[in-house]
Amino acid sequence: MSEFKTVRGMRDLLPEEARIMKHIEAKARRAGELYGFKEIITPIVESYELLSAKAGDEVRSRMFVFKDMGDRMIALRPEFTASVARLVATALRTEPKPFRLFSVGSIYRYDEPQKGRYREFWQSNFELIGSNRPEADAEIILLTDSFMKSVGLKPAMKIGHVGVLRGIFNQEKLEDKTQNAIMQLMDKQLYDDAMERLENAEISNEGLEIIRRLVELKGSNVFDVVAKMMTTVAGYEKAVGATENLNEILKLISLSGTNIDMTVNAGFARGLEYYTGMIFEVYVPDMNMALGGGGRYDRLIELFGGDPTPAVGVAHGLDRIMLGMQEKKAMEGIGQERTVMVVPVQEELRPEALKIAQQLRNQDIRVEVEVMGRKMGKALEDADRRKIDCVVIVGERELREGAVVLKKLEKREQATVKIEGLAEAIVA
Ligand code: HAM
Repeated sequence: MSEFKTVRGMRDLLPEEARIMKHIEAKARRAGELYGFKEIITPIVESYELLSAKAGDEVRSRMFVFKDMGDRMIALRPEFTASVARLVATALRTEPKPFRLFSVGSIYRYDEPQKGRYREFWQSNFELIGSNRPEADAEIILLTDSFMKSVGLKPAMKIGHVGVLRGIFNQEKLEDKTQNAIMQLMDKQLYDDAMERLENAEISNEGLEIIRRLVELKGSNVFDVVAKMMTTVAGYEKAVGATENLNEILKLISLSGTNIDMTVNAGFARGLEYYTGMIFEVYVPDMNMALGGGGRYDRLIELFGGDPTPAVGVAHGLDRIMLGMQEKKAMEGIGQERTVMVVPVQEELRPEALKIAQQLRNQDIRVEVEVMGRKMGKALEDADRRKIDCVVIVGERELREGAVVLKKLEKREQATVKIEGLAEAIVA
């Protein structure tokens, strides 16, 4: 027995899981198409400098970083957004806005492995570039809702706005470093630690009290919560503007006619540092982890040397979606296509078996050829065990008549069928 195992935090996806993963990926791609997104493929490896610029301490400290043979500091991507922002700042700089970019692929973070948390995982990522308007934010949330529903899940959105807390912090002249540290603590829901940090910073009593109240403000009666936020932040101009923006986005979503399960959470923060506006995460019932998250980041592209360009996006964790589907038994509809097995009765008929298999494949039918040299009984037993739909038995007597025996395993039917009509008989 070999001692080799996968590296800690890395998993193999065996055929059944790989099939579901590819199904989820296809649904993500379809959601992208329905909302006008075009797919791009970017490298898994990027410069450390690019990836770390605004990732936030949490993600930054968990990156797979190494030197390549040319002594360059590089890293495996911990997300797609930095790569997309790089592209927008460079090759796509002169493209007319808006544009909508979709990516799907593996992502690497040195997270502590546990259920739903891996060091290599998959994301589908959507970025809507060039619009600062609330309808763009609404589109990203609507897309996430459509995608989740298309894989049979019941999404619930947790929504907030970075501009509310930041608006107060900025007016209170809190340093960026302190702001980021507090937001990181809030992202981890360590609100007591965040408040303690804030108490030790230079902030007015009024400011402190407002933050304390905001952190408590949440609920699914979203317009009620937003109205309370508005009175709470009165006097903090930027925070008021941010609350109005959030109200606008929520209004557009509810007037869109789609029924979306939303909760507003005024003290909600996300680990990534580039967010400037609305932020959100998507959850499903009984699963205590985000299946996706995103938000608005209007300054990242200029930070990478591009023109000032507003943008909003989201990434979905495909591994967690797969877990959600397994838990919710939302797997129906991932039908397996019909598979046929072709078995020659004698060794001499192997060329005929291959020929018939090729004919069927040319007619778009999935075919496995018997390659183990087994006797008919054993081959049939195996086909039964693996839930093969039909077996084509290639025998000398039938071949003389230009025919084969077609056995439909599930229906327990058997008939001699002319080879030219075989594909039709299989599908019938
Ligand atoms: P994120 O919240 O860091 O956002 O990741 C998005 C999703 O990836 C999470 O909600 C989760 O489902 C999944 N995920 C994260 N870490 C792991 C892990 N260790 N194992 C399994 N799944 C995981 C971003 O990545 C942003 N780039 C989203 C974005 C795009 N914002 C704007 N545009």
